[in-house]
Parts: sequence; structure tokens; C-alpha cells
Amino acid sequence: MRISLENAVTLLQNGHVVSIPTETVYGLAAWIHSPDAIQKVFALKKRPASNPLILHLAKAEQILHYVSSVPDDFFAIAHRFWPGPLTILLPVKAEVVPAAVRAGLDTCAFRVPSHPLARELLSEVFPLVAPSANLSGHPSSTKPEHVELDFGADFPVLDGASSNHGVESTIIAFLEGRWGIVRQGALSQEELGCFLGYSPALHDRPAEKPICPGQFFRHYAPKASLVLSSSAYDGSVPVVVGFSDREYPGAQRVFSLGSSQCADDAAFRLYDVLRLLDLNLVEKAWVDMRIPECGLWQTIRERLYRASV
Ligand code: TXA
Ligand code: MG
Repeated sequence: MRISLENAVTLLQNGHVVSIPTETVYGLAAWIHSPDAIQKVFALKKRPASNPLILHLAKAEQILHYVSSVPDDFFAIAHRFWPGPLTILLPVKAEVVPAAVRAGLDTCAFRVPSHPLARELLSEVFPLVAPSANLSGHPSSTKPEHVELDFGADFPVLDGASSNHGVESTIIAFLEGRWGIVRQGALSQEELGCFLGYSPALHDRPAEKPICPGQFFRHYAPKASLVLSSSAYDGSVPVVVGFSDREYPGAQRVFSLGSSQCADDAAFRLYDVLRLLDLNLVEKAWVDMRIPECGLWQTIRERLYRASV
């Protein structure tokens, strides 16, 4: 059910859960002062209580109320990338951030989204917890229709059209004197590195002990099984997830991520395509992984890899 901004504010202030648009993906929002709504977020998503939530703020300065300390260059980073698709992990004052939000950790994840409706909403009611608005483990939502498919046609959604980026925010943490990436996302390692003056290390690999509890869990996966391939299409699987400027001779059906030359477009379409596989009752799809290993493509690779295991 599509609702107005005023309705969204009232519902959130009265302890309800509302889906909100952000520039990355749609979120399932609850007000930090509504413990029941926070529990409902976990229940609706079927999300383990051990997987903490991101706190969304209207501006960087608000963070000072919640954190116990910030690294020296925190505000320089925040002012460069916020509002925008970056989430920052920081140590918090336990008494002001409910333990349920941070899954008992002594840190919390903070983000200032740039979507105009999210900003307007957050100027009236903040902070909001907002995990991605999808069932735990499955593809995120980048359109109001996706949220309604997962949570029902009557679920309140603030309609902000399609999410611009289409993949989640990049999460960083300050580890042993340097910033590192604990979840890849819409902001690339290179863009961050350019600003920091060094390349932030990736700490999100399944082989390592991930810092983000969310990285332990199955993620982004459609029901269809995905066969990732870096070679030319061999016809072994009739359904393809591929690119509009490539040929897949003999394929029965191609779900397109757009041009192989445009990572922004592929990210924008990614979850919609994964969801379309299920809507079309596809059981198995061949995925064209002949894509670069840098920039936003790296995030797309990571999402497809996790969606396939
Ligand atoms: O783009 C986004 O970040 C979206 C939009 C709605 O803002 N939100 C999002 O939330 O992706 P979610 O809950 O789907 O993913 C948040 C990730 C999870 O992997 C979680 O484990 C991690 O952030 N996280 C949250 N708090 C953390 C903390 N204190 N320490 C480590 N990881 C944390
Ligand atoms: Mg998520």
C-alpha cells in the first residue's frame, strides 16, 4: 500500500514498520524509540537476532549523540560521502543504542542516505533502523513492487520510484589505524581509496572471519540456482542472465543486466533480474561473469557469487 510522507512519519512515530526508499535499496524502517517495531523488523524479515541493523540519520553531526569516539578523519569522510551510499561502523555509547539494534555488539553501523524522500522523512523522525526490505537471504528490493511481493500488498510503502544505485551501501570500519571495507557496495573501493589516499583493504571474504555478522549468512539468493561462468556461453543451461550487447546462441531466454559496458546499469537491474527469475519459475540460470574485477563490477561480482552459493 503506497503511503504519503506524512503518513510514514505518523506510522513510524506510533510504533509501526514502514518501507522507505533509499538511493541504494528499499529499507524496512522502524524508529529507534519503538522497541516493538524493531522486533517486528526482525520478525518480518525472518532475520536472526544476531544480525545487527544500520541506523539512518539526517546528518553527520547527529552521530555525536550516539558514538563514544570517532577516528580523526571521520568528519572529512562523512562530509565527502554523506548523504550517500556509505555506512560507517563506530563504537557507541551502549545506553543510547538499544542492544537489539546492534545485536549486542559495542559498535553500530551509521548511514545518511541521499534519497530526497528519505532525507525529508529523517528530518522529521530519526534515527531509523532500516535493513534492506526483503526476506532474509533473498534479493533486496529496488522498487515498491518488490517490497509488496515480499510483505504483501497492504504493507505500507513510501514510494520513491526505483532505487538509483540498486545495490546496498558500502560498509567501512576503522581497523588497526586504517579504514577497511567490511561489505562491498555502491561506493567502489577505488572511489574510497582516491579520497583516503590508500586502498581500503577488503575484510568481507567468506574465508576470513567477517566483521559484518550479515556476511555469515546466505544472501541475495533467488530460488533459482545460478551457474556462474567466465567462459563463452555453451548452451548447457537454456536460461541466461547476461548482457544486451552479447550473443548467447541457442539460449531460450536472456534476462538482461543491460550493456556489459555499464556497471551502473547492471547494478541498477541486478535484484530485479534475480527476482524475475523466480517470478518466471526459472529453476536454473547461466550467469555471464565475463565482467571486470574492479570498480562497481567488483560489488556486482560479489553479489552474484553470494546469490549462487
Ligand atoms: O544500503 C543499505 O545499506 C541498505 C539501505 C536500506 O540503507 N541497508 C542494508 O541493511 O543493507 P542490511 O541490514 O540489509 O545490511 C546491513 C549489514 C548487515 O550485513 C549487518 O550484519 C551489518 O550491516 N551491520 C550492521 N550493524 C553492524 C555492526 N554493528 N557491526 C558489524 N556489522 C554490522
Ligand atoms: Mg540486506
